[in-house]
Amino acid sequence: MQTITSVSEMQLLAESLRAQGQRIALVPTMGALHPGHLSLVTIAKGLAQVVVVTIFVNPTQFGPSEDFSKYPKQLEADLAACEAAGVDYVFVPEAADIYPKNYSTYVVEEHIAKPLEGASRPSHFRGVTTVVAKLFNIVRPHCAIFGQKDAQQVAVISKMVADLNFNIEVVVAPTLREVDGLALSSRNRYLTTTQRVEALVLSRALRKATEMVAAGERRVDRLIAEATHLIGQQRRVRIIYVSIVNRLTMEAVKGEITLGSAVMTIAVWVDEVRLIDNEIL
Ligand code: PAF
Repeated sequence: MQTITSVSEMQLLAESLRAQGQRIALVPTMGALHPGHLSLVTIAKGLAQVVVVTIFVNPTQFGPSEDFSKYPKQLEADLAACEAAGVDYVFVPEAADIYPKNYSTYVVEEHIAKPLEGASRPSHFRGVTTVVAKLFNIVRPHCAIFGQKDAQQVAVISKMVADLNFNIEVVVAPTLREVDGLALSSRNRYLTTTQRVEALVLSRALRKATEMVAAGERRVDRLIAEATHLIGQQRRVRIIYVSIVNRLTMEAVKGEITLGSAVMTIAVWVDEVRLIDNEIL
C-alpha cells in the first residue's frame, strides 16, 4: 500500500493507472475508520483492480458551530486498517492543497440538498459536493462507494454525477450496525455509555417502522407518529427531524408510501452529539 499526499502526484498516478487499463474504485472518507468504512473497501475490491481510499477531514462541509476541530483524527490507525483491508493507495491531502489560498469555486446541488440535513446544516452539502467533485477529478475513479447511512449524501452525489456528466458509477453500501442496532458512525465515539444506550432508540424507531410496513401499514403519518413517540421517551434525545422521503429526491412522501422508494430518515441530538440514521421502507 502506498500513501500519497500530493494532489499532482495522485493525478499522475490516476492517469497512469487508467493508461494501463486498470479500473479504479474510490472510497472517500474523513478518516476515523470503522468497520463500516472497511465494508466499503471490501465492495470496492470486488469492483476494481485498484482501490483508492481518501482520508480528508473536509473543512467546507462543517458549519461554524460544528465539530470540525474536534473531528476524530487517527491517521496511523487508519493507515494500518487500510493496509490490512487490502487498499492499494491512500490519498491524504493537505487542506492547503485541496483549498489553496483564494480558492473560490464550489459545486452546489440546489434541490435535493435543501431539506433535512440541508435545512439544519445549510452549507454542508455545498462542501460535500465540492470536495467529492474535486476527489473525482484527482483520483479519476470508475466507481465510488458511499454508505446508505448518509442517505441524503448518496442522493445529492448521485444527482451531481448525473448533472455534471461524471462518468462514474455511484455504488451504495448497506449500513453496518452494532449487534444492538446502533449504526456505525465515527461520531459514536463521542457518546458516553448512558448516551449510547439512549441512542439505540434511532434503530429501534426505524425497526418499528419497518415492522409496521411489513405488517401492512403504508400511512406516512402513522409511521412517523410511532417513531416520534418512541424517540420522545428518551430523556437525552431531541428530535431534529423524523421524515419519510423519496429516496432519490428527498422530497417528503405524502399520504402513503410506495414500497422500496421511500426512506425513513431520522436526525437527533443525544445531548450534544448529533446522530443520523435511516431505513428504506
Ligand atoms: O461521508 C463522508 O465521510 C464525507 O462526507 C465525504 C463523502 C468523505 C466527503 O468529505
